[in-house]
Amino acid sequence: MRKVYTHAKLVTMATDVYASDGYSCQDNQSIAVEDGKIVALGHDAEVLDWPSQSLNGKLVTPGFIDSHTHLVFAGNRAGEFEQRLNGVPYQTIAAQGGGILSTVKATRAASEATLLELAVPRANALIRDGVTTIEIKSGYGLTLEDELKMLRVAKSIDQHLPVNVSTTLLAAHALPPEYRNDADSYIDFVCHTMIPAAAEQQLADAVDVFCENIAFSVEQAERVFAAANAHGLKIKAHTEQLSDLGGSVAAAKAGALSVDHIEYLSEADVQVLAEYDTVATLLPGAFYFLRETQQPPIAALRESRVPMALATDFNPGTSPFASLTLMMNMASTLFGLTPKENLYGVTRHAAQALGLSHKGQIAVGFDADLAVWDCETPAELSYMVATAPLLGRIVNGDWYDEQGVRG
Ligand code: NIG
Ligand code: FE
Repeated sequence: MRKVYTHAKLVTMATDVYASDGYSCQDNQSIAVEDGKIVALGHDAEVLDWPSQSLNGKLVTPGFIDSHTHLVFAGNRAGEFEQRLNGVPYQTIAAQGGGILSTVKATRAASEATLLELAVPRANALIRDGVTTIEIKSGYGLTLEDELKMLRVAKSIDQHLPVNVSTTLLAAHALPPEYRNDADSYIDFVCHTMIPAAAEQQLADAVDVFCENIAFSVEQAERVFAAANAHGLKIKAHTEQLSDLGGSVAAAKAGALSVDHIEYLSEADVQVLAEYDTVATLLPGAFYFLRETQQPPIAALRESRVPMALATDFNPGTSPFASLTLMMNMASTLFGLTPKENLYGVTRHAAQALGLSHKGQIAVGFDADLAVWDCETPAELSYMVATAPLLGRIVNGDWYDEQGVRG
């Protein structure tokens, strides 16, 4: 498949966010794609005698990458939302067997077909907001069969929608009731049975752990990281969301691609992320929905030049928001990120957070995943929410209109 897209206003994200003040924004550019890859840009693309499509001078960014979601689940937690507003804290609900475990109950009871039926519209909402790659975690099964079931559903989404999917085994999300008071035995099971099975069946690209006082300790997380490394899976971690346990440092030292949430990360530990080139993933939806007041250490992250990614964390308990542009707006209003930082957060840095070295930038050799927007400046993408400025997406080189219909 060969095609040249012409008359694009390109925001390439090809320079380091900290290297310059502006965006690298180029008018009237052509992009040649072949077999899903960008093979030429600018004049080199214009001279090719291939089928062409004009993008009418519109703004073109790399396709957005939602690098942290829990998109596959059954049931909802509106009742707990109400409970929290009546004064019961998230941690208390979790300790009483609600929270993550209530979604586990509903997800275990659901068939693969039901889970897929529930997940597709959620993925579609992300797509209509410019997303071309979605990371999806397990973590609401917590038995071997139910975790693999979730991963199979996640992996099959790309057969139903024009989107790329990356999957993460989050078996260490919560202690299942079967292992009550025996977290170490559950971690043994995760390390010796679940991780090997997910790796062997090629159902997961990465392994994640919720390292928190309502979930797993740093020592337990370290065992999971070691097992992931032993099976050639990448590492990601939920760390410092509700307290500062030191999980981010442990994850970085184990080679994690990213540490996510990090509201309680200390400024001293930011240095460690810089040292290990670990991405700091900010999840403003969870911050907002839990009415958190502790700010992630943004100034220190900037000062140490740590790449910041931005994701929806879409899930029924702490972030029921299937919009990455909403997260961009929240990152600015709640954390003070600039619109430029937001755009890096959902493209280049999000790709780094998933270890997808051929995504997230518009450059020769990169995957031809692009989003085309009906706006004049990149800042507009962080500014107005739910007005659908998306004109279309190019996924693996092919054009899809704003409804996801192939052109
Ligand atoms: O990213 N922090 C842990 N996991 C999810 C919440 C999952 C849930 O409450 O269902 C999160 O916030
Ligand atoms: Fe999460």
